[in-house]
This record gives sequence, C-alpha cells and structure tokens, in this order.
Amino acid sequence: MERLLILNGPNLNRLGKREPDIYGKETLKDIVEQVKRISTPFGVEVQDFQSNHEGELIDRLHSLDESYIGVVFNPGAYTHTSIALRDAITSISIPVIEVHISNVHKREEFRHTSLLAPVCIGQIVGLGVQGYELAARALLERK
Ligand code: DQA
Repeated sequence: MERLLILNGPNLNRLGKREPDIYGKETLKDIVEQVKRISTPFGVEVQDFQSNHEGELIDRLHSLDESYIGVVFNPGAYTHTSIALRDAITSISIPVIEVHISNVHKREEFRHTSLLAPVCIGQIVGLGVQGYELAARALLERK
C-alpha cells in the first residue's frame, strides 16, 4: 500500500493550545484526520509522526521506504537552523513539501530563512492548517 507521512517538528504537539492567535485552534489530531479523509479515495495510507527532537525527525526520514509517495513536513523552528535535517532530506529520494501554518515572512527576521526549502519540492506558507491539506493534495495528485 502507498503511504504518505505527515511529519511535525518541535512544539507542534502543542497545536490548539499554543499561541492560538498565530497557529489557530485546531490540533495536530484534527489535521491528521483531515489529511486522512482526503487521502483515502486515492488508496493512500496516512502515517504521522511528531517529535521535539531533531535526531528523531532525521531517523524517521531515513526509515521511509519506496511505499511512501511523499512527506508533508512542518519542521517548526528547525526550518531556520537545521543543516542536519536538510542533509536528511537530500539523503532520501522521496519528495518533501515544507509547510508552515503562519506566514513566516510577516514575522521575525530569523523566520524568513529556510535551510530546508531549497531541498524540498515546494513550500506552503501562511495558509493556516489548510497548508497541510494542500501539500497532501499536491503529493496525491502527482503520484
Ligand atoms: C512554524 C513557523 C516556525 O517559525 C515556528 O518555529 C514554528 C511553527 C509554522 O508552522 O508557522 O514552530 O513552522
């Protein structure tokens, strides 16, 4: 069976409670449920993984086999700092789409740079949690 991974980095386990004015009220569980709803008709199984630890995110990326059609990845603050995650993405041949709930370009300058975007097939920023769904659709439709 084909699979799609929703991968979330640090602090995204706090969605729904964390700064709701910026990140909204929906939880990670709500997001995963929504992506599952749209993926089922494509016969694609949705897996999800969240970690606050950089190495665990790297290990999860390394563990993906050819059954994965892609990864919807919100790396949280590691977006702006992690060469190791960038190298993990380039070490696999599965397409990754970077998603940010908030419009990082409207925020502090340190959020304006992504070390990961150049090695992802695309990036969705500032469309709220709908970004996850749009990224999943893009992966489902290109498979
Ligand atoms: C975020 C943006 C990052 O700058 C921040 O560190 C996050 C969330 C977003 O989804 O908007 O943790 O990735």
